[in-house]
Amino acid sequence: MRYAERMNQLGTETAFEVLAKARALEAKGKTIVHLEIGEPDFDTPATIRAAAIRAIEEGFTHYGPSAGLPEVREAIAGYISKDRGLPVTMDQVVVTPGGKPVLTFAVLACVDPGDEVIVPNPGFPIYESAVRFAGGTVVNLPLREDRDFRFGAADIEPLLTKKTKMLILNSPHNPTGSVLAPKDLDEIAALVRGRDIFVLSDEIYSKILYDGTHETIATRPDMAERTILLDGFSKTYAMTGWRLGYGVMNPTLAKHVARLATNVYSCATSFVQRAAPTALNGPQDDVHAMLAEFRKRREVILEGLNAIPGVRCRKPAGAFYVFPNVTALGMKSNQVQEALLEEAGVAALSGTAFGSNGEGYVRFSYANSIENIQEGLRRFEAFAQNHAKVAR
Ligand SMILES: Cc1ncc(COP(=O)(O)O)c(C=O)c1O
Repeated sequence: MRYAERMNQLGTETAFEVLAKARALEAKGKTIVHLEIGEPDFDTPATIRAAAIRAIEEGFTHYGPSAGLPEVREAIAGYISKDRGLPVTMDQVVVTPGGKPVLTFAVLACVDPGDEVIVPNPGFPIYESAVRFAGGTVVNLPLREDRDFRFGAADIEPLLTKKTKMLILNSPHNPTGSVLAPKDLDEIAALVRGRDIFVLSDEIYSKILYDGTHETIATRPDMAERTILLDGFSKTYAMTGWRLGYGVMNPTLAKHVARLATNVYSCATSFVQRAAPTALNGPQDDVHAMLAEFRKRREVILEGLNAIPGVRCRKPAGAFYVFPNVTALGMKSNQVQEALLEEAGVAALSGTAFGSNGEGYVRFSYANSIENIQEGLRRFEAFAQNHAKVAR
């Protein structure tokens, strides 16, 4: 059988593959420390669970509008207006099953074959996948360790051409934990303003920020119309399996995105959507408690990694990932990923799962208990010592 050529362009997320391998090893009796997958290990807060159960009992078990239930779009518009200081009306909001459809649909709706999209490298692998699937060309924006994986307008300017159609930003950033400063956003906005360029601003980690307040580029002059703001409930409220996210964009694009939704899944699950206002407007104590716990874990993993000879790691400013430099092990990153799982029972991701500039790095997710992180560090240290000896 022959499949469509476009399937050759579609990428994947290695995290799910490593998770499957790790589970297979566990089934054979091996103990694995899971530092691969990007999801909070906490329970979804009780008030949110109760709201969804209530919605099922109230009969929210049917189709709804493709753009989302009106009361939910309204709640999200109100929340973003207040939280980001960005005036938003409900016709700008599309509610989606997880944040991912926002990015793929935004790319499908905006990028024509041959258009160029500037994508941070390393970066979330679905950006490149979506762009290539749409027939677009990925233009790499290299992120550098010695710059704390941040960038500014001066890094983007040389990449702009007549074909540039979209710039993808992701702050706080997966996989490095870097955060763009308000000044970076000002400069980037000044650069793209006045050009026919959309900005996809992936803000899924907006609430996992250790210092300062999260800002969106959409608040900069003339940027609201050209920015697609992606956020959701997966990370902030430990709701990865619920599949609930949203996009905020200009009303014309929102209609295009909703039409894509009609074609693919009709609507986000109705009773799941009904929990959204409770999550956004209810007490945020659980969110603060999760952040406090992530902060402690960040210290533990950072200190542990930097104490391992030959390994060095920058302090992430947001999200729940560290991206240590492991070049001293003398192995390719994907070999580290494989051998670390097979030999030491630690599931982590090769930096190259996030693009070619991830070579020399691995990503550990510290969305796991301190006890498990410490066990992972012990195993990684022994592994690193063995391999560094071989490398010498
Ligand atoms: C940068 C980034 N964007 C988007 C997503 C997708 O989130 P969701 O699970 O809500 O689809 C993820 C999930 O890992 C992510 O890391």
